[in-house]
Amino acid sequence: MVTKLRGQDGRYAVLDTYHRLPAGWKPPHLTWVNKTQQLQLPAASAWRKLRLAAASDAITLNIVSAYRSGGYQETVFNRNVKKHGRAHALKYVARPGHSEHQLALTVDIGLAAGAALRTEPVTSKPASKAERAANWLRDNAAKYGWVRSYPKGGIAATCYAAEPWHWRFIGVQEAAKFTASKLTLREYLWRKR
Ligand code: DAL
Ligand code: ZN
Repeated sequence: MVTKLRGQDGRYAVLDTYHRLPAGWKPPHLTWVNKTQQLQLPAASAWRKLRLAAASDAITLNIVSAYRSGGYQETVFNRNVKKHGRAHALKYVARPGHSEHQLALTVDIGLAAGAALRTEPVTSKPASKAERAANWLRDNAAKYGWVRSYPKGGIAATCYAAEPWHWRFIGVQEAAKFTASKLTLREYLWRKR
């Protein structure tokens, strides 16, 4: 089913295994955020703020993947099917048209440029660089408008397995409301429709 975009930039669009973007939809105001990755302009500026804030706490965050066209999302999905099988791919990769990456408001974050952050935040004292980064994102990302789409244990509500690396920009004010809501992002955006 085609999702309600709720504004030109798709900022509050629900995208899941059921809801997809209209065919041929393209994000407005795409800009290069580094040599290889693009985001919508407000998300690019919010990413720079997040990255700088993390750096000032001695945490280096990099983008592994940001904007993906429908065609590229198809490549990513098919590659995952080939490598891990269709059941696995459906849990971890959106089919073309269904990915938040197509909004150009979403980043996969890594410590190194090519490797996604696969570590969940911890309640104990962080014992590794990855745990420090995961905790930092949990505690600070919303201040810059970024929220996690796929929390641990949320697959029934989110449609996808836990992805500590996948963060979506919804704006600073909305991110504060989202955090206070304790909902998953999909449920939160659904209620905003
Ligand atoms: N990994 C998420 C679900 C995506 O492919 O958009
Ligand atoms: Zn992602």
